[in-house]
Amino acid sequence: MSEKGLEDVIAAETRLSDIDGRLGKLWYVGYDIHDLAEQSTFEEVVFLLQHQRLPTAEELEELTEQLVTDRDMTPFGAGLMATLAVQTSPMSMLRTSISAASAYDPDGWDQSPEANLRKAIRLIARVPSRIAAYHRLRTDRDIVAPDPKLPHAANFLAMLLGEEPDQEAARAFDVCLILHADHTMNASTFAARVVASTLADIHSAVVAAIAALKGPLHGGANEQVIKMLEEIGDPDRAEGDVARRLERKERIMGFGHRVYKTEDPRATVLRRLAKDLGERAGDARWYEISMRIEKAVMDAKGLYPNVDFYAASVYRSLGIPTDLFTTVFAASRIAGWTAHIREQYADNRLIRPESDYIGPRDQVYVPIEERAVPVQA
Ligand code: COA
Repeated sequence: MSEKGLEDVIAAETRLSDIDGRLGKLWYVGYDIHDLAEQSTFEEVVFLLQHQRLPTAEELEELTEQLVTDRDMTPFGAGLMATLAVQTSPMSMLRTSISAASAYDPDGWDQSPEANLRKAIRLIARVPSRIAAYHRLRTDRDIVAPDPKLPHAANFLAMLLGEEPDQEAARAFDVCLILHADHTMNASTFAARVVASTLADIHSAVVAAIAALKGPLHGGANEQVIKMLEEIGDPDRAEGDVARRLERKERIMGFGHRVYKTEDPRATVLRRLAKDLGERAGDARWYEISMRIEKAVMDAKGLYPNVDFYAASVYRSLGIPTDLFTTVFAASRIAGWTAHIREQYADNRLIRPESDYIGPRDQVYVPIEERAVPVQA
């Protein structure tokens, strides 16, 4: 019997990312996440994950052009968004619109490796357009068309907020997208690989991943972090608030991790970004509250912040609405999901684990009219 929650179970071989939870290291295809955060771009990381090597200048230009071309929404997608913007929550919108997108994908039901690579790039390109269009429509504003001159991260912010970000904001957001792009066998990636292992199409596997990311124990944590920061409101109230939450046996969102037993290397980068962006905006309050929470949680429970803790303050400083945080996570992680799905297809075996039956055995079937009313506990 394996550990509950499949802890320590190896569910797949991958060439995409690796973690050393004791040393607090993360690599994409062997490249340290700190080097990528410092020197790379999201577009380059997309190439790295999809092809398991860094691109040449020409290859990067080609991919960038493809991402630009694929940004536009189809008329079908735009029509659907008008309904979704008034009816659904952000992650439900994303799940539904990606599911619907499969109906109009130019590659149709072609599941060849070449078609799946094209579909992957198309999905990565279009997720920001959908999130931005949804937000513009629900706030009664016009949709902002993608700007072909802007890189992926800057264009995402421009479409969402209606103005081109300055260089520092654009770079900070690019780094956020790099940091969230892949993370070994996390719950959403596992969900994607399970669906891919049945040889269902790439859109279905991505929909499963979005569904898994939606939960507060996975991608939904970043949104909860901001709610907590807002509830605390003042750095001097941080310690008391953390103590009260722990007394009530509540989980402190943005802390703890199944794999990291030390600081999550992504949190190190995001802490610095949260500080820089907060100071730049002349409002270091969220960063100060965060630092006090971090110390209080470490003192009380010995837990380190994970990627979601400081990402929340960074997104907030960039002007991203709180309820879109998890969709922004998805806009980055889709690079990893699609790479994992394609890796699964390339060397597939149906993922079908066992369960340990713990229910009653050898029961006698009683006709419905003779059944006793169950006694309530
Ligand atoms: N706040 C308070 N206590 C926490 C905690 C948190 N965020 N995360 C873990 N713990 C405690 C548990 O209560 C448990 O304590 P106990 O042994 O005294 O009961 C212990 O640490 C182990 O927790 P467990 O649930 O077994 O860890 P896990 O590996 O199953 O969970 C997470 C990993 C990420 C789901 C968990 O740390 C969590 O819920 N974090 C908050 C949500 C979050 O930030 N998610 C984003 C992850 S990137």
